[in-house]
Amino acid sequence: MDGRWRTMEALLLLLFGLLTSALDVPLDLPQPPTITHQSPKDYIIDTRENIVIQCEAKGKPHPSFSWTRNGTHLDLDLDANVSMRPRSGTLVIDIGTEKAELYEGVYQCTARNKHGTAVSNNMIVRQSRSPLWSKENIQPIVVQEGVSLMLPCRPPAGLPPPVIFWMDNIFQKLPQSQRVSQSLNGDLYFSNVRQEDSRSDYICYARFPYTQTIQQKQPITVRVLDMDTLNDTMADLYNDTDLFSDAPS
Ligand SMILES: *[C@@H]1O[C@H](CO)[C@@H](O)[C@H](O)[C@H]1NC(C)=O
Ligand SMILES: *[C@@H]1O[C@H](CO)[C@@H](O)[C@H](O)[C@H]1NC(C)=O
Ligand SMILES: *[C@@H]1O[C@H](CO)[C@@H](O)[C@H](O)[C@H]1NC(C)=O
Ligand SMILES: *[C@@H]1O[C@H](CO)[C@@H](O)[C@H](O)[C@H]1NC(C)=O
Repeated sequence: MDGRWRTMEALLLLLFGLLTSALDVPLDLPQPPTITHQSPKDYIIDTRENIVIQCEAKGKPHPSFSWTRNGTHLDLDLDANVSMRPRSGTLVIDIGTEKAELYEGVYQCTARNKHGTAVSNNMIVRQSRSPLWSKENIQPIVVQEGVSLMLPCRPPAGLPPPVIFWMDNIFQKLPQSQRVSQSLNGDLYFSNVRQEDSRSDYICYARFPYTQTIQQKQPITVRVLDMDTLNDTMADLYNDTDLFSDAPS
């Protein structure tokens, strides 16, 4: 009886030993590097923070990392503001006193050990931008009641793109409804205008997220007229411009 238990015990121990060594073995196997984490393809620099370009990889032995920028080797010793996190490929660029533009470019990380190499995607690093709205001279818009109308916003092409909203000149949100709505590109769309839509302060604002700036477009004036008034206004207009005059020159 005692003997049989001992045998059982020995077998169990053996089995256990086999199991643990079966678990151990792969961990000791040589393993070429594989990239486990990297920054998205488009990296927009937020000048309020360090640039942190992620690159992590696993492998046996633990890989070492290097970077290229615009296709050429990035020598970390040449720039005290650029460093790599320990046991990681993640690149940290302190732009505290530097111009962020200096660090724009296409970055790529390579993880290497004696069994192989792995490369990350190209990561395109660009400075955030909030260009100024170009000066415009916007004429008042005169329309007949009941027609559809679109007020263009057309913000400057920022990086990342700005958040668009329409307000009046005292910074109140303009009412939106089934009838009045903002389209995806930021234009304000009226499915059928009413006289109460007449106002002189339709203002499109663009908020640029990284630079924390808000820019405003010139106010747009809209005058919605009923048929009678519209005819009179048009008559005035044509008379003024002598459209139908046959006077010899
Ligand atoms: C790195 O930063 C220091 C100041 O912190 C600056 O003097 C130096 O020019 C920077 N190096 C490069 C290559 O931009
Ligand atoms: C990398 O190339 C881009 C595009 O040609 C250029 O604007 C940028 O200044 C370059 N970056 C560096 C660090 O030279
Ligand atoms: C406005 O003018 C159009 C043509 O010019 C005419 O057909 C219409 O009856 C006029 N409407 C009013 C309300 O005067
Ligand atoms: C058109 O202009 C003439 C003079 O230039 C003026 O006498 C007339 O009243 C005008 N008509 C309208 C409809 O405004």
